[in-house]
Amino acid sequence: MIRVFENSRELARGAAEHFVALAPTTVALSGGSTPKILYQLLADQFQAEVSWSKIQFFWSDERHVPPDHPDSNFRMAHEALLSRVPVPESNVHRVHSENPSAQEAADEYEKVIVPRLDLILLGLGADGHTASIFPGSDVLHETKRLVAAPWVEKLNTYRITMTLPLLNNGASILFLVSGAEKAQIVKEVLEGPKKYPAQFVQPTDGELIWMLDRDAARNLNRR
Ligand code: 6PG
Repeated sequence: MIRVFENSRELARGAAEHFVALAPTTVALSGGSTPKILYQLLADQFQAEVSWSKIQFFWSDERHVPPDHPDSNFRMAHEALLSRVPVPESNVHRVHSENPSAQEAADEYEKVIVPRLDLILLGLGADGHTASIFPGSDVLHETKRLVAAPWVEKLNTYRITMTLPLLNNGASILFLVSGAEKAQIVKEVLEGPKKYPAQFVQPTDGELIWMLDRDAARNLNRR
């Protein structure tokens, strides 16, 4: 399913309404900049409609930095949402990405993760990556591990990421993509041949929803 919204704020509203309607008990938050507006909206305008104490929060991926680092996906979600809603700290399961070994952090995370998440939020990189599954990475072919720590050559760093077996076991997978700079990759991912990591996200028993703003959707043939 593809839904197109007027702008990034309406996109965030659509995602927030989906979140409230779904009432997930386990959620994987995505990183990057796109979801920040959603997180802020959930805290500001939808707080009363969510049973926060019933939700366990995870991350679809994390940078190999401490939780207080500017690049941390945990830090962004904590500032925009989790520090502003009544979710018990014990419900927030961040990746221990301060561990000097990304692999150890991934191994540890695999022990706390739930295998079937009610809601998984994902973004789309201009190169077609999602979570921290980048083009050409071995993690694209992982069939057993639920969490991995791939080396990302183009970023010269390790990442910790949910793998396709875990992502594709999700009940509701929601891609949020906004901005004209994503229009080309959105077209290639949604209408082109299967070659980008984001195209390998195909839930085996769940729904896949793409929420785009008009700028990101502008190159699509079909709406
Ligand atoms: C990350 C994200 C990554 C992100 C895309 C889009 O850790 O950066 O998980 O997959 O979703 O890169 O990022 P933007 O929303 O910043 O464009």
